[in-house]
Amino acid sequence: KAFFKPILNSAPPSPTKRHTKISVIGAGNVGMAIAQTILTQDLADELALVDAQPDKLRGEMLDLQHAAAFLPRTKIHASLDYSITAGSDLCIVTAGARQIPGESRLNLIQRNLVLFKNIIPPLAKYSPDSILLIVSNPVDALTYVAWKLSGFHPNRVIGSGTNLDSSRFRFLLADHLDVNAQDVQAYIVGEHGDSSVALWSSITVGGVPVLSYLDRQKIAYEKETLENIRKEVVESAYEVIDLKGYTSWAIGYSVANLARSLLRDQRRIHPVSVLATGLYGIDGGHVFLSLPAQLGRTGVMGVANVELTDYEARQLRNSATTILEAQSQLDI
Ligand code: NAD
Ligand code: LAC
Repeated sequence: KAFFKPILNSAPPSPTKRHTKISVIGAGNVGMAIAQTILTQDLADELALVDAQPDKLRGEMLDLQHAAAFLPRTKIHASLDYSITAGSDLCIVTAGARQIPGESRLNLIQRNLVLFKNIIPPLAKYSPDSILLIVSNPVDALTYVAWKLSGFHPNRVIGSGTNLDSSRFRFLLADHLDVNAQDVQAYIVGEHGDSSVALWSSITVGGVPVLSYLDRQKIAYEKETLENIRKEVVESAYEVIDLKGYTSWAIGYSVANLARSLLRDQRRIHPVSVLATGLYGIDGGHVFLSLPAQLGRTGVMGVANVELTDYEARQLRNSATTILEAQSQLDI
């Protein structure tokens, strides 16, 4: 006996909203922070989780499913088998080794390359039209690896990059100026890591360019003070890792924010890792690093034509060289 009686004698109308499916690979601290933010923000109709540890994976799936009564409706499943990711619109890769306190992200490259060789080909096979969003570290080099292994067009291979660093930067500036971080327009670009670059020349708060404001008010500032704030951004990840062992909540929100722009075709600009060769004089090979990029349903729609000072452009090229050097050890 049917549980519901049909209304009238006609077939129910088919849903008009497009079904959205997100897969998250790696059900660790980062994968689960992303998964739970995606659920609370109602970004997917279906969420597939993949990990290499079956018990942990099933435990995480059940724990999320048990929140169904408090969340928008999302079908959640999990498996070690990549067939559950079939037909994903977005595949988010968080699997892999993370830093121990004091270790650099670049140090993880060989360990995570090995894993990517098992992760990216099946994702590309089961979801040939999806967007790949890489989070595992070192994110820029691994986004390049994912691009090579997937054979996807570069507009559909994106690294979460400095979207997180820029949020840390905006938090520090907002805290300093006692304003809302959402009113601070400020980008960190380049490597998501030690060689990242702060674009001081383009920072605005409520539409007011910050450096020219300080100049106009004859408020003296030292280059060193600015560099110290950038260093504080870099150090803040190491500090969280020292204190709690890993970072998770901010990257969870940061990636959900990217998922929204991509899947809801928001065309917002985010500093994310994109194929940057040929831009701002970056050469020497294919390299992914963060630049302010417009994101929509087709992936990266373009890179904002931000004017950099000579110093900033030089720093950006140095950052590209750091990533290219790390990539040169890779056997893909
Ligand atoms: P974690 O150890 O908690 O989780 C990693 C998960 O990957 C584990 O559950 C593990 O079982 C799984 N895994 C390992 N090999 C796998 C495979 N072959 N297939 C599927 N799953 C596999 O680590 P974490 O704290 O979640 O960090 C994950 C990654 O994210 C690290 O590389 C970390 O550096 C990176 N990270 C990046 C950012 C960023 O801004 N890009 C921020 C935070 C962390
Ligand atoms: C971050 C990680 C560790 O939180 O890349 O910046």
